[in-house]
Amino acid sequence: MSTSMNRRNWLKSGAMLAGGLSIAPALKWNTAQAANEIAARLYELPATQVGKQVLARPEMKARLLANENPFGPCKKAREALIGEIDTSFRYGFQNKKEFAKLLSDKYKLNAPGEADWGPSPDSQVMLGAGSTELLLAAALLYGQKGGKILSADPTYMSLIRSAQNVGADWDTVPLTKDYVHDLDALADAVSDEHSMVYICNPNNPTGTVVDPDKMRSFCKEVSKKKPIFIDEAYIDYTSDPDKHSMADLVADGYNVIVTRTFSKLHAFAGLRIGYCLAQPEVITAMGKYANGAGDIASTSMAAAIASFQDAEYYKYAREMNEKSKQFLYKTLEDAGYEYVPSHTNFVLFPVKMDSERFVQEMMKRGVGVRNWSFANQEWCRVSVGTMQDMEYFADAFNQLS
Ligand SMILES: Cc1ncc(COP(=O)(O)O)c(C=O)c1O
Repeated sequence: MSTSMNRRNWLKSGAMLAGGLSIAPALKWNTAQAANEIAARLYELPATQVGKQVLARPEMKARLLANENPFGPCKKAREALIGEIDTSFRYGFQNKKEFAKLLSDKYKLNAPGEADWGPSPDSQVMLGAGSTELLLAAALLYGQKGGKILSADPTYMSLIRSAQNVGADWDTVPLTKDYVHDLDALADAVSDEHSMVYICNPNNPTGTVVDPDKMRSFCKEVSKKKPIFIDEAYIDYTSDPDKHSMADLVADGYNVIVTRTFSKLHAFAGLRIGYCLAQPEVITAMGKYANGAGDIASTSMAAAIASFQDAEYYKYAREMNEKSKQFLYKTLEDAGYEYVPSHTNFVLFPVKMDSERFVQEMMKRGVGVRNWSFANQEWCRVSVGTMQDMEYFADAFNQLS
């Protein structure tokens, strides 16, 4: 698949990421027990309760198919959730205002104001029950009435599929040979026919991220022609999230729509919190297709307010992910496999058998992973879990490789 040159580049960027996170070279915490002990100390919970899997299938020992954060919500978020129960008979307007204010202060944007339901006319922030609600709102807004979405392929398909369901067409541009968004080709491909450009950065399923300076120039130029939707679900795992994020372009007046989710680094997949930053007219138009926080549980918003301000957990979750990821890389390398260096909490690697069979064989061994086929290659995408998850993965994988 890749040339050795590509691979050298991959390894270089992987090493830079690791350097940015100051990872102990010898994988200091390379056992499941150590990982659980740190987590137990942080949360003051018995070690056995930390990272406990809630399994859809009881036979699944390691659930590595949905890019969840197995270390769970931070302690302050758990306390806030419990604390909110007593007042949860009320609609969550107050939490919505508080949370939206935190976000608008961070990104220097207009808050939703005093309106209880939906955004106010000058708002640049919209909340969602996970970012899926916001992806759906954008799909409905830009996908109907002859809409045509331009994006890379492969990429995350939620918005594109929803747009197709309401009649939109989809134009694609292949990734580069290093499986990164080809920004030059995307810029060349944008035409009057398109209603929107969708860019998932870092990209799912490849885990690659675009150069932030190139991305910023691309967005500034192309957004003059068409709105650019940037799905930043995994941005918190990049070496420098503030630099990689395009959120600042919203404050600068560009027609970009940035979505972020708490489902990944904040470990809120089941709590459902996401948000969108965009120009007021876009937020107003998207607001016709989403509830703008009306759908979000007040408990979840209270927990999000706590998690958003917990810098210690943010650092901890990034470090734990990086440690498990380095173990996963080593497992693959030791078995003679290549992988796409990842800026996320999942890793994509080429498999040497039919990828569907690979997934089934892994599942028989209690490990859930996902498969893809593209660029004439069969691939597995494995989420980064706890060290124990990674050990289960290594065990099953080594039986097949
Ligand atoms: C790229 C990307 N965007 C958005 C989502 C949706 O996440 P949520 O609705 O939980 O915020 C996911 C989920 O895996 C994702 O991978």
